[in-house]
Amino acid sequence: LASIEVDVASLQPGMSLTVKWRGKPVFIRNRTEAEVKEANAVALTDLKDPVARNENLPADAQASDVDRSAGKDKENWIVMIGSCTHLGCVPLGQAGDFGGWFCPCHGSHYDTAGRIRKGPAPTNLPVPTFAFTSDTVIKIG
Ligand code: FES
Repeated sequence: LASIEVDVASLQPGMSLTVKWRGKPVFIRNRTEAEVKEANAVALTDLKDPVARNENLPADAQASDVDRSAGKDKENWIVMIGSCTHLGCVPLGQAGDFGGWFCPCHGSHYDTAGRIRKGPAPTNLPVPTFAFTSDTVIKIG
């Protein structure tokens, strides 16, 4: 399937779900205000990978929280390929030193914007092509 549609109406802030797309897990998270705030408090110069890696943006977009998310009006939403950029294990949500995701295979810590902060993974978790087709439906791909 080239693209899938996911109903996210039931995801309250703080909740997430994982769907499968093109054989890979995709994490969809409705982040809490605190999680968004925490991600925004990080200086871009503190990031191991300062690039957004967001398929919806130019390749040189920076890894600010808004550019890692669904955008200005929907910054609480984050959609990412759930495959560690080190060797491809599936990271665990709401875990690790930065409250985002933690890859148990070799200890990579991602923050609440899915940006690599510590451990062997070289880059941020990639954001696939996606769009809200209504207030509660996300089309991935
Ligand atoms: Fe995730 Fe190695 S595969 S840290």
